[in-house]
Amino acid sequence: MNDENTLMQPADATNDAHNEATYRHWRLETDRDGLVWLTLDKADSSTNTLSREVLDEFESILDGFIARNPRGLIIRSGKDKGFIAGADVNEFSEINKPEVAVALMRRGWDLFNKLAAVRFPTLALVRGFCMGGGLELALACRYRIAVDDPSTRFALPEVMLGILPGWGGVKRITGLVGPTAGLDMMLTGRAVDARRAKKIGLVDASVPPRVMENSARVMVLRGNPRRELPFVQRMLDGPLRNVAAHFALRELEKKARREHYPAPYAILELWQKYAGDPFAPPPNDPASIHYLVQHPTTLNLIRVFHLQERLKSLGKSGDFKAERVHVIGAGTMGGDIAAVCAMRGFTVTLQDMAPERIAPAMKRAAELYKRRIRDRLRARDAMDRLIPDLAGDGIRRADVIIEAVVENLEVKQSLFARLEAEAKPTAILATNTSSLKLADIGAQMRDPSRLVGLHFFNPVPQMMLVEVVSGERTDPEWARRALAFVRQIDKLPLPTRDSGGFLVNRVLMPYMINAFRMVDEGLKPETIDKAAEQFGMPMGPITLADTVGLDICAVVGQQLVPDAAPPTKLAQLVEAGKLGKKTGEGFYRWHEGKPVKGPAGTVDETLIHRLIAPYLEEARRAVDEGIVADEDLADAGLIFGTGFAPFRGGPLHYARGCIPDRDEVPA
Ligand code: NAI
Repeated sequence: MNDENTLMQPADATNDAHNEATYRHWRLETDRDGLVWLTLDKADSSTNTLSREVLDEFESILDGFIARNPRGLIIRSGKDKGFIAGADVNEFSEINKPEVAVALMRRGWDLFNKLAAVRFPTLALVRGFCMGGGLELALACRYRIAVDDPSTRFALPEVMLGILPGWGGVKRITGLVGPTAGLDMMLTGRAVDARRAKKIGLVDASVPPRVMENSARVMVLRGNPRRELPFVQRMLDGPLRNVAAHFALRELEKKARREHYPAPYAILELWQKYAGDPFAPPPNDPASIHYLVQHPTTLNLIRVFHLQERLKSLGKSGDFKAERVHVIGAGTMGGDIAAVCAMRGFTVTLQDMAPERIAPAMKRAAELYKRRIRDRLRARDAMDRLIPDLAGDGIRRADVIIEAVVENLEVKQSLFARLEAEAKPTAILATNTSSLKLADIGAQMRDPSRLVGLHFFNPVPQMMLVEVVSGERTDPEWARRALAFVRQIDKLPLPTRDSGGFLVNRVLMPYMINAFRMVDEGLKPETIDKAAEQFGMPMGPITLADTVGLDICAVVGQQLVPDAAPPTKLAQLVEAGKLGKKTGEGFYRWHEGKPVKGPAGTVDETLIHRLIAPYLEEARRAVDEGIVADEDLADAGLIFGTGFAPFRGGPLHYARGCIPDRDEVPA
């Protein structure tokens, strides 16, 4: 049986008639080698998640196998996209009740321990995403194979929801990949692709799609011993675990405050002191589920997850499918928009007035692909899809045309009149303007109902949000297509109305101006930035202003808050040509891309409140004026567009007083 020829024959699988009728979500087939192929194809869902029902069925199937001891078990997905996305987050609504959380944790912990203990060989054949509970299931198998496909990604993103990988993730991952890679995955939620998964030992093999089934059969039938961890990692996972934890803690403290984000600290402690057993810590221990799920951060992060899902769902309606994108203006924004679209698989033509304007954008794209795609051939393919187009030949064939030329009304007006004449009648016509009105830009168009705003944020590759702007005359059907397109480039679309600054800049500007005025009153920039960071902003407003450019801040400030007198210090700096990071000096001096900061003064709650208040008030006003449809969309837009402290659940949620003071967190 074990010779190569037999092993390489395709699996001749037959349905397991006994079990076939019994299960809604799982399919069983036994091949002629006696291997059982167990396929998860969750009913009524395009994605596999580990709901209670899915796990209950799995348990009963597993019990059957334990009784009959098959030759081997291969677990795979029946979906086109993805292996398993994780637990079903819709079942998390009452997770802040400790008894609910403990029961949920118990379900996967016991079941995957049972899977890990079976006598027959087990293998997870992973193609597409393998997240959270999905990866924990795979970790409980004896072997794992990753299909080398751009969509294959492994992650333990529980930390992003404020919880921990308690279905065996904390217990098992470092034994496979070592503490360095394992803690990194658990504490950051970062995903790894198939090749990296192979390199760090998360999977036993990374194989091309055409041989995936055979590779799985061969691996199970051969029964190779498991790979051993390299010596140093084995030590760090064993006798030197406290040393590894100490270094990880030092890194963690630089990135997240314990009072804001308790989950990574809990994960680290659970690994260090309790060998990953979520039931081992006493209930008052910060590493316990009890403590974690009652911390306000957890529910807020789950809220942010749902907000993100809602933004994604806004791009789902309809059947608009773009293939070709044409971008006009290869500057800061247009160049990067084009690069991102090509990275996502579109054929992109990039137009500007001279070749030397396009060249820097091509160079930036190459650097982006090198960083993000890693695989040389795929990076080259992306580069091949990005085509310089001085003459604008791409206009006639494009499904989406995005204008990102200088912020000048006449230039944009005449451009759109030309675009309308040349473009396909089905093409989206979009502007990336940040301050002009769509009604004005479309003034010379025959049919201005076609014009939408696609407002990207800088830097485009990092920023998830795109505001999809509808002017008074925009036809909702065009806006709907634009929302769908934003999803196709894997960004989060936020529908907004055409009004000064849309949502994000409108809310940011009064907050920034307030910060500039506090400088005028004599507060140190360092103190103001510290107050914002203490509140949980990713970057203080003064550092942000220096990064964006003080000239831009001054102009946008004037546009969005025209009645207010310009802040004095800001005006002086602009006058002196000290524009921030790009000139080497602004409010701060900049050295090697970083601001040189002195010591900050004392920060108290009053100061934080004074700094944040205009942000909260403007967010409220934007909702009242209908710039976005409701408060949740405003919260979503401001979290993903400005980085508003995610653990607070969004500015309006925070302002509603849903956040108890952290002193009220149960001990
Ligand atoms: P930029 O000055 O870096 O690039 C503009 C490019 O457009 C230049 O390369 C220029 O040669 C080209 N251009 C000008 N007229 C043209 C024409 N008729 N045909 C073809 N190319 C032409 O400007 P940036 O910063 O990229 O801004 C572009 C647009 O994006 C503006 O409307 C701006 O308001 C908006 N925006 C800018 C953001 C930023 O942070 N820079 C953020 C969001 C939107």
